[in-house]
Amino acid sequence: MHDPAVLRSIHRARFQAEPAVFVAPGRVNLIGEHTDYAEGFVMPAAINFATLAGISPRTDGKIVIYSENFKEEKTFEAAALPAAAGKHWSDYPIGVAVILAGEGHAIPGFSLSLWGDVPLGSGLSSSAALEVVTALAVLSLIGASYPGPVLARLCQRVENEFVGANCGIMDQFISANGKEDHALLLDCRDLSFKLAPIPHNIALVIANTMVKHSIAGGDYPTRRAESEAACAVIASHRPGVPFLRDATLEDLEKWGHEMAPKSLMRARHVISENLRTVAAEKALERGDLEELGRLMAEAHTSYSKDFEGSCAEADAMVELAQDLPGLIGARLTGGGFGGCTINLVEQSHAAAFSEALASRYAARTGIVPEIHICHASGGAHKLD
Ligand code: GLA
Repeated sequence: MHDPAVLRSIHRARFQAEPAVFVAPGRVNLIGEHTDYAEGFVMPAAINFATLAGISPRTDGKIVIYSENFKEEKTFEAAALPAAAGKHWSDYPIGVAVILAGEGHAIPGFSLSLWGDVPLGSGLSSSAALEVVTALAVLSLIGASYPGPVLARLCQRVENEFVGANCGIMDQFISANGKEDHALLLDCRDLSFKLAPIPHNIALVIANTMVKHSIAGGDYPTRRAESEAACAVIASHRPGVPFLRDATLEDLEKWGHEMAPKSLMRARHVISENLRTVAAEKALERGDLEELGRLMAEAHTSYSKDFEGSCAEADAMVELAQDLPGLIGARLTGGGFGGCTINLVEQSHAAAFSEALASRYAARTGIVPEIHICHASGGAHKLD
């Protein structure tokens, strides 16, 4: 994580004011992909890549947002917040103000500086980190606060209603509610969760394929729509199935022939992924790492073949990890179509594993990957 003292001095120099400073992490999902918007299960962990925000009040009614990453400043009027997104990085922080205003909060003028090290467009939820950290900062400025799950919902609404990305709750939830050394088995229906301890001898090795991922693009909403179309077919026979969370593999056997072939494949992924995610938490709990690895491998195949959410590079990254010493399990993580793979690796092998994977991947694809040995971190909070 970047040094908060550096952000403080950036803020002071730019705005001549002492900021309050907040942090929100990015995330990696161990298993449970494209299940959140089906009200199913996911098992993410917050990671030690994060976005920092410094905030101080202003008296001129302006909202001035500076991004150290983009070296760019953007100004808004607090009394006339934008009605629509501008396809710009500032959509995320100003979208938070818009959603909070919609909740009845009077939004004053403020200066906000942002600085993060979550790799952008890599499927590690840089945008969720940005939303959650901004929400914490603005809420503290106006003397309000929300429980973590409510905060996560508000930030999800920034994506859904302002930015225009039809994502689920996972990323915002884990950024707001992550716990050091733990993954969370989250039930996306009622937002209840179970803490799943990650043993100290396991490293989260995150391997960036360097293929850009975007959930605002066409593929994510298309997959979502295809899976929801399958659910509608099941619901026409069995009304108790508003979401694929409620469907079974037997439903697919009975009514799969009424579905478009792609819809059937998407639904098979989502339904089986829910089962795998719950099973993976149990395996982790009883220390059955072999089973955990098997479930991750199965999840990747399902994501790649049935959901068609992978890409050649991510498939290669997973395949090239298979026989490296120390590997417990590997799969593509996040929204798909690029981004990163998550590799659970025995800590003592993590460094050698990362090096070997990087050189194999570069030799196979001609792309130099970025590989990070991460650990599960705490959720968003204020820094002293
Ligand atoms: C993105 C979305 C999440 C989730 C994942 C896929 O990260 O933001 O809500 O749907 O993709 O599991």
